[in-house]
Amino acid sequence: MKVAIIGQGYVGLTITVGAAGAGHSVIGFDVNDDLVANLNVGRSHIEGITDADLAGFIAAGAYVASTDPSVLDGSEVIVIAVPTPLDAQRNPDLSFVHVAAELIQKNVKSPALIVNESTSYPGTLRHEIAARITGVDHLYASSPERVDPGNSQWGTKNTPRLIGGLTPAAVAKAKEFYGRFCDSIIEVSSPEVAEAAKIFENTFRQVNIALVNEFAQISDALGISGREVLDAAATKPYGFMPFSPGPGVGGHCIPVDPSYLAHVANQVGVPATFIKRANEVNLAMPAYVVKRVVAGNAGSIKGKRVVVVGVSYKSNVADTRETPAAAVIDLLREQGATVTWHDDLVVTWRGESSSPITGADVAVVVTKHDGVDPAAIKACGYVFDCTGQIAGVDGI
Ligand SMILES: NC(=O)c1ccc[n+]([C@@H]2O[C@H](COP(=O)([O-])OP(=O)(O)OC[C@H]3O[C@@H](n4cnc5c(N)ncnc54)[C@H](O)[C@@H]3O)[C@@H](O)[C@H]2O)c1
Repeated sequence: MKVAIIGQGYVGLTITVGAAGAGHSVIGFDVNDDLVANLNVGRSHIEGITDADLAGFIAAGAYVASTDPSVLDGSEVIVIAVPTPLDAQRNPDLSFVHVAAELIQKNVKSPALIVNESTSYPGTLRHEIAARITGVDHLYASSPERVDPGNSQWGTKNTPRLIGGLTPAAVAKAKEFYGRFCDSIIEVSSPEVAEAAKIFENTFRQVNIALVNEFAQISDALGISGREVLDAAATKPYGFMPFSPGPGVGGHCIPVDPSYLAHVANQVGVPATFIKRANEVNLAMPAYVVKRVVAGNAGSIKGKRVVVVGVSYKSNVADTRETPAAAVIDLLREQGATVTWHDDLVVTWRGESSSPITGADVAVVVTKHDGVDPAAIKACGYVFDCTGQIAGVDGI
């Protein structure tokens, strides 16, 4: 099939590789000139997608990236994979989705299957995308992306894929497209079910992470190891699912998607109280971390050299979106510490560069990448570990 994918970020490029690998002919459309130029010379910006993967598809004529929206016309399938962030008031910002719909409306004159993979609240495909595209008889389906960047066990092929269409013909076409590179396709009765399932999955994680974050604080105050309790609880073979405490939540999904659900819940008059409380707990974790670091340093870190280890939001990825490291660093600086950070994957961030771990008085481990040597961290005078991966030090 001839396929166009709008957005060549984490999701769009992942689907591009799945589709091109399955024999579809893919045009990757993005508004970012530099990104498109890099992609067209086979340079990947996503962990798990190699330059060789891209170069192979380009050489085989299976992939080309473009910033020209006219390339969208003539595709059998158009996938939307654009950002769905929150605005300054933490409400859904669907402006990228709206622009994508406008691009289709303006440029695509031959009928296509239009699939939205961007995460959003139920009703987005129907009311925010399909309703904005008129004059051509397109098919519409929702297939929310579940990719977990950096996860080597679960990828596009073996993660079951939800599909909900506006019509049976849309579902059939979407199954034909995804069936070539996804092992398991689950048809649900409407796009709204697929959209809601995705944001409920992430809300489930957000709420449970908040619960263990609160529990970590309770157990520390009780003088027992929260992680040992959680490990002990996880020995129960049924009815318990382990989650780990940490410095907060980051990335494009867990801190963001539940607020999409809360937004529509409020619109229909059902307050999403768990989401609100979970946001409060998770967003307060950096302050808790800094409070513990100060307490672990006899009540003051003024003038101390502090290195924050790992500023991406999770292990072995370079993604710093919504990372709690930002608040941890800012709050440490407010305490008068001289703060640097170390992250070999991120390298530059917020106008600063990664610094060595050695020479610091205090190390605060926010994210632990596999390549980081625990011995180098432990050589710092005091270590506070938010990851549970450094034995024998202070932490959560
Ligand atoms: N990153 C994840 O792990 C993940 C997982 C599941 C779902 N999602 C969801 O997938 C969607 C995309 O997320 P992402 O992580 O790929 O974002 P991203 O920021 O990595 O990529 C988005 C890309 O879209 C491009 N873009 C923006 N507006 C555009 C437009 N009008 N036309 C063409 N390109 C445009 C940007 O330049 C960028 O390259 C979001 O809704 C997100 O919530 C992300």
